[in-house]
Amino acid sequence: MKKGTAALYIGMGVLISILTFMLMPAYSQEDIVSLADSALGDRERPAAVFAHEEHNEKAEIEECNVCHHVYKDGNKIEDESSEGQGCSDCHNIKEGYPTRPLMKAYHDLCKACHLENKKGPITCGECHPQN
Ligand code: HEC
Ligand code: HEC
Ligand code: HEC
Ligand code: HEC
Repeated sequence: MKKGTAALYIGMGVLISILTFMLMPAYSQEDIVSLADSALGDRERPAAVFAHEEHNEKAEIEECNVCHHVYKDGNKIEDESSEGQGCSDCHNIKEGYPTRPLMKAYHDLCKACHLENKKGPITCGECHPQN
């Protein structure tokens, strides 16, 4: 391969990387404003309010794995994160895997922290508002 051609390929590679990076936010957590997990089946309640990015900024949560956790042998692994996976990938409603079915997994995670901090909604209607 000629030097010029190689440089062209590298140049194109860099350009594609930059473009991919620029387009990424469109598919990231920044767009989440509420949660309606289809894995839960037919809904009983309106979607849960959760403006992902804004919420985590206001609540001053630094680590992604506070929510996107990874466990091994029952212990949380501190420096690993599962942000590429949905909660339902592990918390299966049918088998109740790991030990917590999906709806309980959500409620436990969200409410425990709000109760602990004495901040953030804890009643049904605050998280699942009508409208
Ligand atoms: C801190 C926020 C929070 C509170 C408080 C809360 N929920 Fe939820 N709830 C969620 C999240 C998050 C989900 C999963 C995302 C979704 O809505 O699909 C969920 C899911 C559900 C679901 C399964 C989806 C559906 O609509 O069938 C039901 C039922 C539900 N909640 C009922 C309740 C009831 C009843 C209460 C009060 C006793 C309550 N929730 C309180 C956040 C909350
Ligand atoms: C307070 C809890 C919480 C924290 C902290 C958090 N997330 Fe999330 N994130 C969620 C929930 C809940 C979902 C929805 C999961 C689902 O649908 O199964 C989600 C979804 C996502 C998704 C999937 C987006 C999509 O469109 O499907 C990505 C990517 C993500 N989060 C990245 C991050 C990153 C990166 C961080 C750290 C900077 C982070 N999250 C911190 C709760 C959190
Ligand atoms: C990679 C698999 C995996 C993913 C993804 C995952 N979990 Fe878990 N989760 C586990 C395992 C394993 C445990 C430990 C066993 C148990 O308590 O059920 C656990 C424990 C929990 C617990 C109890 C401990 C705690 O931290 O309070 C809650 C609540 C929970 N998960 C909620 C969630 C929510 C909500 C999501 C999505 C944001 C999620 N999990 C994503 C595997 C996962
Ligand atoms: C690790 C702690 C933590 C977890 C986990 C957490 N929250 Fe919060 N949340 C907070 C704190 C702290 C506030 C109050 C922020 C403030 O206004 O200062 C808050 C506020 C909120 C509010 C009020 C509006 C807002 O965005 O500030 C909503 C709605 C909310 N949380 C929903 C959720 C849902 C749904 C989940 C689960 C998917 C969740 N939270 C998980 C800490 C947490």
